[in-house]
Amino acid sequence: MFSLPPMDSASREAYDGMHGYDDVRTAPRALATEAVHAGRDDLARQGLHAPPIDLSTTYPSYDSRGEAARIDAFATTGAEPDGPPVYGRLGNPTVARFETALARLEGTEAAVAFASGMAALSAVLLVRASMGLRHVVAVRPLYGCSDHLLTAGLLGSEVTWTDPAGIAEALRPDTGLVMVESPANPTLAEVDLRAVAHACGSVPLLADNTFATPVLQRPAEQGARLVLHSATKYLGGHGDVMAGVVACDEEFAGRLRQIRFATGGVLHPLAGYLLLRGLSTLPVRVRAASATAAELARRLTADPRVARVHYPRIGGAMIAFEVHDDPHEVIAGVRLITPAVSLGSVDTLIQHPASISHRIVDEGDRRDAGVSDRLLRMSVGLEDVEDLWADLDRALGRPARGTGPYQHAAPPRGATSHNEPAAASRH
Ligand SMILES: Cc1ncc(COP(=O)(O)O)c(C=O)c1O
Repeated sequence: MFSLPPMDSASREAYDGMHGYDDVRTAPRALATEAVHAGRDDLARQGLHAPPIDLSTTYPSYDSRGEAARIDAFATTGAEPDGPPVYGRLGNPTVARFETALARLEGTEAAVAFASGMAALSAVLLVRASMGLRHVVAVRPLYGCSDHLLTAGLLGSEVTWTDPAGIAEALRPDTGLVMVESPANPTLAEVDLRAVAHACGSVPLLADNTFATPVLQRPAEQGARLVLHSATKYLGGHGDVMAGVVACDEEFAGRLRQIRFATGGVLHPLAGYLLLRGLSTLPVRVRAASATAAELARRLTADPRVARVHYPRIGGAMIAFEVHDDPHEVIAGVRLITPAVSLGSVDTLIQHPASISHRIVDEGDRRDAGVSDRLLRMSVGLEDVEDLWADLDRALGRPARGTGPYQHAAPPRGATSHNEPAAASRH
């Protein structure tokens, strides 16, 4: 671990290289290749393999006039300063590597990282509010705290909740943002992003892509101007980093950097390093966990102890299911699976949204959004599918009276319910 000396030629090349390797940026590369190379393309030229971690909070300069000019430029455009970032709140070279890589994976011009997913969403709202555009149109369900932030108007915003078909009608002259999650937390409901983006007209669409990750879906290609991640989840992937990021065009990124500079929700460089490392295995992790999740969803769908299974059409490693019996008993009954909120880690987590992730949402709103009190949300990890099934099977307990015969045998292939109305129900 070391910091590059800011003004020597090697570091100058490193800082410049992080934003300017046009030769490789223009060459099309597959997602799996980007995952291990994006944000690292300058390393070999520097004689490095692992990315350096720059822990500097400040960057010395003998040229105050030059620094003044660089700060003026940042205040005007929000573009990252050429050369060292002046001060840690303007930017950080290690975090910039993660931002470069995530932008490449999402297919956007830029990405701006924050201390958490909620800090990232807050920055988006503040960008729009600073332009007098405080009205937000949003589709439920959203992650509980995102719902709370909008509903409580904590940042001075006003929200209109609607379904995807009602978006165009809900827009007002002061609408600054349309927000959706797809698949949504916790019901895994999906929206047609292209149709929603069309309905937004010139209002930016923010798609929270935390659950799908760019491995399964790239919302910017479907018209979302802003792609948000709780990077705490799949991007980090190991349950040990808290972070958020917005992938977007350079113009919006500039405004986000200005807000980040002024409000201070920066990402720590160590977190930036861990996220870059997490990205390198993202495609492999997501695909492996998704295969296991699809199989578990299939078994749950055919299980008489389970009333309903929600599993997204695009796949993924998240499953939600409603049980006939007490969901708290399932949480109390797992042994291999970890009973904890959050998701996207290498190990499997299960939680009860009505008690934890969506507790802060008003009970009526929660139920209207399809978050039943019997719903459990499971983030499937990289364990062996049979071990996971054995744990779930035990935790589900004996079948409730009148719910049909208890069956241990794996159900027939193709029994998995997707998130279509009625199709997922097994009452
Ligand atoms: C879909 C989604 N968006 C945003 C967030 C907020 O992210 P963070 O917890 O990193 O602030 C979460 C957290 O669970 C989430 O699930």
